[in-house]
Amino acid sequence: MLTVVAHPLIQHKLSLMRSVETGVKEFRELAAEVSMLLAYEAMRDLELSPTHLQTPLQEGEFPMLSGKKLALVAILRAGLVMTDGILSLVPAARVGHIGLYRDPLTLKPVAYYNKLPADIAERRVFLTDPMLATGGSAGAAIQFLKDAGAQTIKLMSILAAPEGVAVIEAEHPDVEIVVAAVDERLNDHGYIVPGLGDAGDRIYGTK
Ligand code: PRP
Ligand code: URA
Repeated sequence: MLTVVAHPLIQHKLSLMRSVETGVKEFRELAAEVSMLLAYEAMRDLELSPTHLQTPLQEGEFPMLSGKKLALVAILRAGLVMTDGILSLVPAARVGHIGLYRDPLTLKPVAYYNKLPADIAERRVFLTDPMLATGGSAGAAIQFLKDAGAQTIKLMSILAAPEGVAVIEAEHPDVEIVVAAVDERLNDHGYIVPGLGDAGDRIYGTK
């Protein structure tokens, strides 16, 4: 299932990220903010249980988070800035890392690192990568998470191409995708158009 979060604050911040005038510091801050706002939607179905507590005025049962604990898993590099933003909402979440880069010629993902929470099978997993382009990186990361035992996975991206959405929906129909926007298409180099450029380079000031 695909969820496009059309909230005005997200759309405004995404447009600022798209602008070529936006520098590294602002881009990084915007990416973290948009991710936090996307998480608000992606975590809409977290379980609540009535919990007994005392307000300054009286005792009562009040809803608090329960159920599976959370894991945020970043696809390196660019997914890191997203987990940083989301941690401001759920600071107790565990964080995993999957190192992948996209070969510029084949556009296939190349794995170079991974470290997941040991109890990943018992956690709800929110996988972060700002760009869902061909879907190769996200698809490989989801398969890696499933092989490690993860049962409940949501993919959070800032921007997607229709091609990448179609790949994830076909390969992993159980994984919900939460994005801020789906753009027109991929260009001949596998970049999302109109897009925002290379997310990792814009976050870290590399080229
Ligand atoms: C970018 C992006 C995604 C991937 C998306 O990473 O952050 O991980 O490309 O493309 P895909 O859907 O076609 O796989 P990149 O390979 O540039 O690595 P980086 O994050 O380290 O810059
Ligand atoms: N990776 C990016 O960072 N940007 C794109 O447009 C496609 C893949």
